[in-house]
Amino acid sequence: MDISNTTKDDYKRWEDKKLNNFIYQPDKMMVEIAEAESLKKSEKTKIKDLLDQQNIVFYEFKSMKGTTPSALLSLSKQLGLEDFDYNPKSDKTGLTPITVQNDLNTDDEYVPYTTKALNWHTDGYYNHFDESIHSWLLHCDEPAKQGGENTFLDHEIAYILFNQQNKNILSLMDNITYTIPENKKTGRKSVDGYVFSFENKYKKLHMRFTMRENNIHWNENAVKEVDMLKEIIKKSERYHVKYKLDYRQGVITNNILHNRSSFTNLGNQTRLIYRIRSKKRVVF
Ligand SMILES: [Fe+2]
Repeated sequence: MDISNTTKDDYKRWEDKKLNNFIYQPDKMMVEIAEAESLKKSEKTKIKDLLDQQNIVFYEFKSMKGTTPSALLSLSKQLGLEDFDYNPKSDKTGLTPITVQNDLNTDDEYVPYTTKALNWHTDGYYNHFDESIHSWLLHCDEPAKQGGENTFLDHEIAYILFNQQNKNILSLMDNITYTIPENKKTGRKSVDGYVFSFENKYKKLHMRFTMRENNIHWNENAVKEVDMLKEIIKKSERYHVKYKLDYRQGVITNNILHNRSSFTNLGNQTRLIYRIRSKKRVVF
């Protein structure tokens, strides 16, 4: 809810509802899916309710008819996760297998394909505005033996916590709050962004953010606020949801903040996570 465009009472009601109903236990956000290709009404309702409340839901497949990729594409379709983001690493269906690739350069944008930790971010912060990511799904085909845990923070809660401490949210809502210089290696042009915005067809809070220090320029007018937001994100542990996805499990979010711990592949156990990024929110 947009604090600068709503009554104090309405905002306060929304804030209280978000914070008081917050669930941090992943098992209470886990929906068992009997068959990936044909979601039951009750499963859909549970998914929708959890996404409505805190923009994240975990699921576990009990069975699948086909392969993991085909089950994921079917699940996405049933949830309205469409208009996928295609990137150099995705296949022609829009699915991206995330696993360690040793032949990559050390560019920041390729960290997902290494065993390194990934700092807090939302997906697509270097996409152009009309290519913004509104939701994504991660599905675990094989977990790492050690590490590879994710931590999630609802971006609406980050926004609420910031507003509790700072009246200057507008400095984070400018379309040039940050600039990421062009990437000559991948050919990506320089891109600007807001951190928070409600200017989308859903009129819902959308966040573009990265905690990375390199190759990002923060607008001078926002540096203080950005530093404060970074501290809030790091220190708001009571709203962090920590979880390591296991076999057949996945997570769907309305592009909330997340990070990943480093991991180790051992023996023949190799971490493989499938990712789908969508330019739509999950809608039913
Ligand atoms: Fe991500």
